[in-house]
Amino acid sequence: MNTETEMPVTPSAGKIMLVGIGPGSVEHMTQRARDAIAESDVVIGYVTYIKLVADLIEGKEIIRKSMTEELDRAVSALEAARAGKKVALISSGDAGVYGMAGPTYEVLFQSGWTPDDAVQVEIIPGASALNSCAALVGAPLTHDFCAISLSDLLTPWPTIARRLDAVAMADFVVALYNPKSGRRTRQIVEAQRLFLRHRRPDTPVAIVKSAYRRRENIVFTTLDSMAEADIGMLSTVLIGNSNTFVRNGLMVTPRGYANKYDMEDGGSTREGERAGRSLSTGLLGWLETLAAEHAAGDSIETLAARHRLPADYIQATLDEPWEAAPAAASEETEA
Ligand SMILES: C[S@@+](CC[C@H](N)C(=O)[O-])C[C@H]1O[C@@H](n2cnc3c(N)ncnc32)[C@H](O)[C@@H]1O
Repeated sequence: MNTETEMPVTPSAGKIMLVGIGPGSVEHMTQRARDAIAESDVVIGYVTYIKLVADLIEGKEIIRKSMTEELDRAVSALEAARAGKKVALISSGDAGVYGMAGPTYEVLFQSGWTPDDAVQVEIIPGASALNSCAALVGAPLTHDFCAISLSDLLTPWPTIARRLDAVAMADFVVALYNPKSGRRTRQIVEAQRLFLRHRRPDTPVAIVKSAYRRRENIVFTTLDSMAEADIGMLSTVLIGNSNTFVRNGLMVTPRGYANKYDMEDGGSTREGERAGRSLSTGLLGWLETLAAEHAAGDSIETLAARHRLPADYIQATLDEPWEAAPAAASEETEA
């Protein structure tokens, strides 16, 4: 006779792993992403992403979802994790860039989950489309850049348009995600229109479709022609800033070294500049210029228009007394 008391089986706590698989090829996936998929009992993802990792998921429970079922994917992941399973929730690129990380945390918080819950969450970073696409076309993101999604499925158009206008005016290099679909064809035309208000028509643009995938395609064009190019849901559009150039088939945004060094003269430092120090037109130099211009009679409005900055910022800057900081023991790097 069995005298042992039967205990109820408490499943060990599960885990949700938000796996960024990078652009699509297995070689561009991190080791941790592969290990996470290998460790998982259940793999959940959009059908296309499941296909991209087909070789790594044999024998696992697979939950395929359509593009629009993001919250569903997160709910399924939580249910499986509550049942004690290790779940790999697959995103292309990075899960935190227009990916599953946000919706998953929203679903988790809604369910009362907190970070000390038995269900663990791990986010595994991957190369986002902007990294992958940039690597294929040269070095377009070597200066300040930002990403804007043209998808108005969840974001009102005035919000998107305002951001496009602001970054175009502020001379960011921009990566446009979700630029166009079968139904959304006008957004890229509107983006072009907003950019042309601030940027030259010949501003370099690179359109990368299916980076590191079978149908990879790269087109170099210009801002005034970009809307006519072949753009789809698998494309990322990279728009250069006012210094970006294309040479020998490579799109490059200068880091700014030419502001300080004479690149044609073996890299000698330009007059008035010093290695490891702010440019003469850096903050302190600019403050001196501003004060001199104001003292010479330029109004706040004139200064605001000249420097393309808000008048109240110019006023506050002039009102605030400032002093150069004492020289630091170690110099900054310029990289
Ligand atoms: C929903 S977002 C997902 C972004 C993804 N989480 C990332 O970090 O790259 C989908 C958009 O990402 C871009 N994208 C994703 N993979 C790409 C690839 N391999 N080549 C070019 N663009 C890609 C496209 O703009 C596409 O419309």
